Amino acid sequence: MRFDVLTLFPEIFSGYQTQSLLKLAIDRGLTSVHLHNLRDWAVGKHRQVDDKPFGGGPGMLLMPGPVVEAVEAVQTADDAPPGRLLLMSPQGRRLDQPFVEDLATSERLLLLCGRYEGFDQRVVDLLQPEEVSIGDYVLNGGEVAAMTIIDAVVRLVPGVLGDETSNQEDSFSRAGRTLEYAQYTRPREYRGLEVPEVLLSGNHPEIAAWREADALRRTAERRGAAES
Ligand code: ADE
Repeated sequence: MRFDVLTLFPEIFSGYQTQSLLKLAIDRGLTSVHLHNLRDWAVGKHRQVDDKPFGGGPGMLLMPGPVVEAVEAVQTADDAPPGRLLLMSPQGRRLDQPFVEDLATSERLLLLCGRYEGFDQRVVDLLQPEEVSIGDYVLNGGEVAAMTIIDAVVRLVPGVLGDETSNQEDSFSRAGRTLEYAQYTRPREYRGLEVPEVLLSGNHPEIAAWREADALRRTAERRGAAES
C-alpha cells in the first residue's frame, strides 16, 4: 500500500516515519510513504502558496494553483494507480473504524493537508477529493489528521502486525464493533488488585465469555448500546 502526503510541512512526518509501526511496515516492503512539499509547485520569487480571502475575513487560504497542480503531478508521476484523494478538513466525513477498513482496501491513498484557514473552494470543485475529518475540533493543519489516517490504516495492511489476529480484537474492529475488554499481565496481584480469576483458569470458552461480557458492559457504559 502506498501513501502520498502533500503538505507544506513534510518535516512533521520524519520522526513518525522512522520510529513507529509504520517504519516496520516500510522496512518489510508492505507500505511506502511519499512526501511532497506543496511549495514545490508555487511560482514566483516568493513561492507564495497562500493569500487573503476575497470578501475579507481572518487568515490565509491555500491558493488553487499550487495545490491542484501538485495533486495532478503526483497522481500522474509514475505507473502507480492514481489512488484515492483525501483532503483533510474538519468539514469532512468523520473517520471511524469502518471508514478506516474501507480505506485499507485501496492500493494508494493521497492525503492532502491544509494549513491556515483552509483551501480555496476551487481545489475541492476541481479535484473532487473525499474530505475527511478526524473529529469535531479544529487542528492547526491537516498533518496530524493525515498521520492519524495512515496510523489507523497501516495496521490493517496484511503482514504489518506481528500477530494477525490482534487488529480483529481491537476496539471497534469487525466483530460486534465494541470497545475492547480489559486486559491484565503479571503480576497477578498489584497493590491489592487481583487479576480476575477466570483469566488464570485456562478455560478458554469461559475466558472468551468473560471478555465478551466485559466488552459489552464497557461499550454500553461508555458509548451507549453496542451494535450487534
Ligand atoms: N484540519 C483541521 N482540523 C481538522 C480535523 N478535525 N480533521 C481533519 N483535518 C483537519
